[in-house]
Amino acid sequence: MTSSSNANASNNAIAPHGGRLINRMLRGEMRQAVRERAQKLFKLDLSPMSLSDLELIASGAMSPLTGFMGQADYERVVEEMRLSNGMVWSIPITLPVDRETAVLIQLDQEIALCENGRVLAVMEVTEKFEYDKQREAQLVYQTTEEKHPGVARLYTQGDILLGGEIWVVDLPEATETEFPELRHTPAQTRRMFARRGWRRVVGFQTRNPIHRAHEYIQKTALEIVDGLLVHPLVGETKKDDIPADVRIASYEAILRDYYPAESVLLGVFPAAMRYAGPREAIFHALLRKNYGCTHFIVGRDHAGVGGYYGTYDAQLIFEQFKKEEIGIEILPFDYAFYCKKCGMVVSSKTCPHGKEDWVYLSGTQVREMLERGEMLPPEFTRPEVSQVLIEGMRAKREREKAEA
Ligand code: ADX
Repeated sequence: MTSSSNANASNNAIAPHGGRLINRMLRGEMRQAVRERAQKLFKLDLSPMSLSDLELIASGAMSPLTGFMGQADYERVVEEMRLSNGMVWSIPITLPVDRETAVLIQLDQEIALCENGRVLAVMEVTEKFEYDKQREAQLVYQTTEEKHPGVARLYTQGDILLGGEIWVVDLPEATETEFPELRHTPAQTRRMFARRGWRRVVGFQTRNPIHRAHEYIQKTALEIVDGLLVHPLVGETKKDDIPADVRIASYEAILRDYYPAESVLLGVFPAAMRYAGPREAIFHALLRKNYGCTHFIVGRDHAGVGGYYGTYDAQLIFEQFKKEEIGIEILPFDYAFYCKKCGMVVSSKTCPHGKEDWVYLSGTQVREMLERGEMLPPEFTRPEVSQVLIEGMRAKREREKAEA
């Protein structure tokens, strides 16, 4: 079994986190043999977030991780934003199970990780440990309030964590049913960048439909690099976020009409959203480095929710680390908006006017307008995008009505 491939050696591409791109997908005879063996193992069904983590570990997007964290990594990540070997890592990647399940699993036992009973991977359980959810909530999310969607998920997950390396034989169903043509792995994006001759590539994370401020910061960043990877997150998000298929349709519409095809690539990022603000910004940046990006955009309240984080905390957190420890260059952007007096999209850094001249809508206002079937102001969102969103929300309502 080989756990890495030197995808970066040929074209001077940026090194993955830890130096090697991990690959935990089994192929050929080995895959077949493990698949058969796994049928007889204890089967553990994974949550949507763990399924996303499994996919990201398998493809090397989470390099240098080769499995779910053991206690030494977990503790140091929670306390210090570092793995036990000292490398920067800001979000615990854990496999929680309830106590009743945990007693059925022995240390050093090999178990099968499943999606609705279908075996996806095997894991040798080398660790089984208790953890303090309140402490994780406070240190990772900066709050112990259950109102926070990341904290709420943490509180409902199992009380025991299993740690161990994984080998994957099959990927989650979503890889075949949700945007398969956009689900490029890190090895694939690295090859695509190289083929296009892009040496400097900026990555853009998003969990929202595209608006003019996004377009502004993406295009401003693109001015100083060769390519832009538009990388919307398509793993689990909170219920009231706009569904991924609607968001992707909005991206496809705007890329077709307003972006230069030769310097922009759309791909999906199959991670679950944590809403951990500053810590998640580091996590997002490190994973985009693994996808081959040299630069990463962090704007206002990156990966934030409610009022839990300061507007620019997700930029300031990077100051706690040496640049070479992060390895991907962070492009920070101030709050961007359309200013009527400037007659263009600007930012709080570049606009001399006051709030009364800015066109701004909150997420809630946007959702309410779309639900009423109203076009958003063109200064806020391009009409092509508004149209896709209105249609998408209508389809979602009908789906929900049919299911009820
Ligand atoms: S996020 O949870 O994925 O960060 P969102 O999709 O809203 O949410 O944001 C994507 C990226 O654009 C983040 O880096 C965020 O900070 C940035 N961003 C979003 N809106 C603005 C804005 N109006 N001004 C500046 N940056 C923004």
